[in-house]
Amino acid sequence: MAVRDILKMGDARLLRIAKPVTAFDTDVLHLLVLDLLDTMRAAQGAGLAAPQIGVDLQVVVFGSGESIARYPHAPPVPRTVLVNPVITPLGEPDASGGLREDEDWEGCLSVPGLRAVVPRFARIRYTGFDPYGDRIDRTVEGFHARVVQHECDHLVGMLYPMRVRDFKRFGFTEVLFPGLDATPDE
Ligand code: NI
Repeated sequence: MAVRDILKMGDARLLRIAKPVTAFDTDVLHLLVLDLLDTMRAAQGAGLAAPQIGVDLQVVVFGSGESIARYPHAPPVPRTVLVNPVITPLGEPDASGGLREDEDWEGCLSVPGLRAVVPRFARIRYTGFDPYGDRIDRTVEGFHARVVQHECDHLVGMLYPMRVRDFKRFGFTEVLFPGLDATPDE
């Protein structure tokens, strides 16, 4: 168990396509998960993906099961370890023919000090496995869906600035939200 250094945007390791985990319930996988959880907690993050600590595997952690003072407006998301995730967007098509998206502010522990409004699918199903190889299958919406999409993007080399459409709503946290650091760092 250890708090690991979090890679910052510009590091090529954040741009890799992560490899699937092929062996479950191993010491190596359990130690990776402990490091991810320790590092996420230490940074007060809403989630963390293995590539952010330099590990090229499809493993993400997110949620805390309770509201955290750092982002009091976000509803609780169950603490989850998700291996080899697959996301399926759900919902009714919107006027443009795409599935409905929500816009909200996001940050990222690999992009410190910044926030932007990022479009995400409003409702998704996600599947995958826990570290023991047991299947996870959930249909979620809102903040929970946003966190999962953000973390899984890290597994395909996507950082949230790559998803920003309106750069007028992209800036430094201290300027956008003076005196208030209440939006999630994912
Ligand atoms: Ni992130």
